[in-house]
Amino acid sequence: MKLGLAGKFAIVGGSSEGIGYAIARLLAEEGAGVAMVARGGEALAASAKRIADETGARTLAIPADIRRAEDCARIVATAAAEFGRLDILVNNDGAPPLGALLEFDDAAWDKAVQQNLMSVVRLCRDAVPHMRAAGGGRIVNITALSVLQPIPKFGLSVATWAAVIGYAKTLSLEVASDAITVNTICPGRIETTRLAKVYTSDSLQQLAKEVPLGRLGQPAEIASLVALLVSERGAYITGSTFHVDGGRRANLL
Ligand SMILES: NC(=O)c1ccc[n+]([C@@H]2O[C@H](COP(=O)([O-])OP(=O)(O)OC[C@H]3O[C@@H](n4cnc5c(N)ncnc54)[C@H](OP(=O)(O)O)[C@@H]3O)[C@@H](O)[C@H]2O)c1
Repeated sequence: MKLGLAGKFAIVGGSSEGIGYAIARLLAEEGAGVAMVARGGEALAASAKRIADETGARTLAIPADIRRAEDCARIVATAAAEFGRLDILVNNDGAPPLGALLEFDDAAWDKAVQQNLMSVVRLCRDAVPHMRAAGGGRIVNITALSVLQPIPKFGLSVATWAAVIGYAKTLSLEVASDAITVNTICPGRIETTRLAKVYTSDSLQQLAKEVPLGRLGQPAEIASLVALLVSERGAYITGSTFHVDGGRRANLL
């Protein structure tokens, strides 16, 4: 299937490793230029170089912390200036800490809002004018299955990503006439270093057993859906929320 990504330029958040890396790698393989973002500059530079070497695509490493307003502005400005255009924004990074909701103070809530919600608000706000200038665009947010099926101790993410889903749906209506689509993906258990850190008391084998397909997902399996959504083939898909979880979501719809 031809995705038509050659000549397109993307920003992919949290892409030095894990799901973001797999997304950046696949978009590059499909011919897009990719601006990659993470805080750790050394690992990010190595990942960007590896993808450029392996795919021949243009990559750009932008070390930044998406919790900071000034970093969000710099990410979009740098990518647009270097590439000359911007077609795709994938909002992805880490996540706030786990813990019981009633134990988080205002400072912890503020950090979570900056990380999960305000980063999306700021990056979209700055990226959309470039997409309009390019004649269209694609925005994909990576959240988590726990937003659709909440889990105790994941509340900071559940609450702030639920807001992202509301933001994305509304934005999709407001930018539809500009041929810009906005969608959200909710991954289930995906085999990354983060998964092992989050579930310290369960073995990966135990986590896999609880998935109907009997295994953990791979980062590349999230990247596949992102590639479709940001491609020409995904032009009619907007305002949607997808769960990619090996069958774990219990609801009918
Ligand atoms: N893995 C799963 O099972 C799973 C399931 C559902 C949802 N998710 C969500 O999907 C996202 C990616 O997860 P993952 O498993 O791929 O995580 P990961 O392997 O830990 O990778 C996270 C990436 O984001 C970067 N990052 C973290 N905080 C950042 C910040 N403040 N600013 C800029 N970059 C930042 C990290 O680099 P630096 O640390 O150097 O910044 C790294 O490149 C997370 O939001 C996670 O909650 C994951």
